[in-house]
Amino acid sequence: MKKPLLEVIYTDFKIRFKQEPLLVFSPGRINIIGEHTDYNDGYVFPAAIDKGIAAAIQKSETDNCIAYAYDLNEAYEFSLNNIKPLENGGWRNYVIGVVAEIQKKSITVPPFNIVFGGNIPEGAGLSSSAALENSIVYSLNELFNLGLSKSEMILISQKAEHNFAGVRCGIMDQYASMFGQKDHALLLDCRTQKATPFHIDFKDYQLLLINTNVKHDLSEAAYNDRRHVCETVSSLLKIPALRDATASDLLKIKTQLSEEDYQKALYVIEENDRALKAVEAMKANQLDQLGALLFGSHDGLQHQYHVSCPELDFLVDFAKTDTHIIGARMMGGGFGGCTINIVLKSALAEVQDTIAKNYKNKFNKDCSFYNVNLSQGTHVVTL
Ligand code: GLA
Repeated sequence: MKKPLLEVIYTDFKIRFKQEPLLVFSPGRINIIGEHTDYNDGYVFPAAIDKGIAAAIQKSETDNCIAYAYDLNEAYEFSLNNIKPLENGGWRNYVIGVVAEIQKKSITVPPFNIVFGGNIPEGAGLSSSAALENSIVYSLNELFNLGLSKSEMILISQKAEHNFAGVRCGIMDQYASMFGQKDHALLLDCRTQKATPFHIDFKDYQLLLINTNVKHDLSEAAYNDRRHVCETVSSLLKIPALRDATASDLLKIKTQLSEEDYQKALYVIEENDRALKAVEAMKANQLDQLGALLFGSHDGLQHQYHVSCPELDFLVDFAKTDTHIIGARMMGGGFGGCTINIVLKSALAEVQDTIAKNYKNKFNKDCSFYNVNLSQGTHVVTL
């Protein structure tokens, strides 16, 4: 049997640096509904999962830091002075980005060594990058008693993503990864950054993620472009964010917008509404209603917001024809990654089998299935 991730990372650190490390686990996230609403100050409904990044960290005895990406077998040595984003830096930019954003708060970060590794496939739309950022800020905060609150830490992680990875992401991923609660999803108001936890128990049904194994690239200009469209429409409407608009407000400025931008803004307004309706459906135990909202969300992401791809559309279309699946949609930034499905527990094996065959037939590649458990946010681990 493969050794558990935490043990692997801990042992690697000890061998590599001959010190006892502090060990932190930072989870990835799913999102039930509310996609591309976070940077519009709207609502999202994510949860932390039991897959993520493990980081082992300790003070360095030299003036420099060494970060080691276990899964890639790549090491990076850097100085803490004058940190700048690296061109094509990949994972390195997340590490130094977090450090630089802490330093911008006039907090001194002493030299450290870190080893990290994960069990969420990169590009699956499960936010391995937020998990990594949070693991770094959290472990530095613990190790050096920096006195940062969780709310401050997620903003540092988000800024690292903006300024070092070049993606102007919202706060959903970092929030869910940091504040996740076991067996709960969080209805997060991205304006106030306050969340209401909901116990998730779909009775005869469960969540199933299906990875298209098409790799999305969030740093793609497409994400930032969409954010820009939303901001432009908000400023035309003279409101702080699209969260403050209704469909009829938008209609009033329709002639000033291209049809594409109108549809994108309308999608955001409708998706925000769907997120709130989804919570009501869950509270009333109306799973069919929740499922219909998920299908509606996908429809908007595909036809109005244009962030889907043929593989995701195929999986969702297939889900619509399978009576054991009551709702499905693409999840995360888009252009690949996973769909999230609500599936009848007793039919799980059958559903997976049929989808695997049909997907292979259609695209001549495999999809992957993940059963995830909703879990606690970023935390220190003792082995
Ligand atoms: C990515 C971003 C999030 C959010 C989603 C889309 O995961 O990091 O902030 O915008 O896409 O909902």
